[in-house]
Amino acid sequence: MSVTPGYRLISLASDRAGDMLDVNRWAFTGDMRPEDLDAYASEIPFSRTRAMEIQDPAFGEVGGLAGVAASYTFRLRVPGGSLVPVAGLTWVGVHPGHRRRGLLRAMMGDHLADARARGEVASALYAAETEIYQRFGYGLAARQVDARLPRGAELRDVPGSDALRVRIEDASLERHGAAVARIQRRIERPGTPTLDHEETLRARFGDPIAHRRDSERMRILLVEDADGVPVAYAFFRREGKWDEDGVPGGKVHTWSFGAVDAAATHRLWSVLLDLDLMGSVEAMPLATDDALLWLLKDPRAARARIRDNIWLRIVDVPAALTAREYLCPVDAVIEVTDPLFHDNHGPWRVTSRDGEGHVEAAPGATPDLVIGVQELSAAYLGGVSLGALAAAGLVEERTPGAVHALAAAFESTSAPVCNLFF
Ligand SMILES: CC(C)(COP(=O)(O)OP(=O)(O)OC[C@H]1O[C@@H](n2cnc3c(N)ncnc32)[C@H](O)[C@@H]1OP(=O)(O)O)[C@@H](O)C(=O)NCCC(=O)NCCS
Repeated sequence: MSVTPGYRLISLASDRAGDMLDVNRWAFTGDMRPEDLDAYASEIPFSRTRAMEIQDPAFGEVGGLAGVAASYTFRLRVPGGSLVPVAGLTWVGVHPGHRRRGLLRAMMGDHLADARARGEVASALYAAETEIYQRFGYGLAARQVDARLPRGAELRDVPGSDALRVRIEDASLERHGAAVARIQRRIERPGTPTLDHEETLRARFGDPIAHRRDSERMRILLVEDADGVPVAYAFFRREGKWDEDGVPGGKVHTWSFGAVDAAATHRLWSVLLDLDLMGSVEAMPLATDDALLWLLKDPRAARARIRDNIWLRIVDVPAALTAREYLCPVDAVIEVTDPLFHDNHGPWRVTSRDGEGHVEAAPGATPDLVIGVQELSAAYLGGVSLGALAAAGLVEERTPGAVHALAAAFESTSAPVCNLFF
């Protein structure tokens, strides 16, 4: 993808944080409080930040920024338990005075090529508008449940939960960063990112006042086992509310949480569901089969909405497909279409025995199934079945039975979700 005439792509260092935030302020509307600038800047991964700089005075001040994009570095859990390197695209914005001139397209070409060059197998993102990124091959790889739970919602018992210890504190990178990263590394659910990279971890702890709305600053609930090993966390804020009769009915908001096992999950939610002066808990992002939803004695108590979670774009088909497990033996030829990366394009033989996948180019082989990179990316984490995509006419079966066989192999034993927003 070529760069639009009149602009050039540059890497951006932290001394231009103000210019970058200015583009985002224009792109996402609204002002930023001056006292929030440092908090926002602390979330920007400057080792991977790119910008479109104006070169033609006809478009604006030469050297000014017209568009920005950045990406976090992490490893993402895939079905079977492997962690694969993935780029987390973020901070994408084009100033409205420069929109629809191909700046995003140029930045996307740059981002995807960069991910490939770094050995990442895919790029993932949260979409401000779901249509934007599909043209670049991103598929809807995971959905999330946002639930509102009444205070005191009862949970079924889980042995060992009561023995776990709980700390509730102001969230701090210095005090809690290592514990949160350690828990992230242990969560087995597909779609979970690691927080091993310093910039990726730091971004979790930015707490701009604008994000608080009517709530308090960012708190953390940390669950530890008897040896002090962290086993669950939730970032949360409380919003105090009293009705006209003076009855308290505040809200607990949590937007990122994780637990390594059932006892830790139980302890985490037991505490969040019983905070004084609160009337309800807004819990997100839950996986569609989240343990909390199964622990509730009254599942209907969780008033739930489902929406898109992460979008994924495989950039290296053989590396991505080799890294995940296949739930049953399979031997099939998949023809992948990819308008951006021609070496992803073409027939691939996918074989698996004992769960381990093997993928090799199969030039000239007759495909059993034809699939676009967007659909392959959507199915990669097991968030949608190839059968569902075929039913929607988005996958072409060439050999009768191929969809059934491949759909079974591509299943995941738990639904994917990315448990933190970036
Ligand atoms: C979305 C945004 C980044 C697009 O930037 P841009 O430079 O205008 O995009 P481009 O000119 O490169 O457009 C590339 C293609 O995407 C399409 N497109 C761009 N924005 C779109 C949108 N919001 N919805 C649907 N399609 C969109 C364009 O029509 C174009 O299609 P084409 O190649 O078929 O002609 C920009 O409008 C923006 O900053 N919006 C507000 C912030 C935002 O949504 N950021 C994304 C965060 S996830």
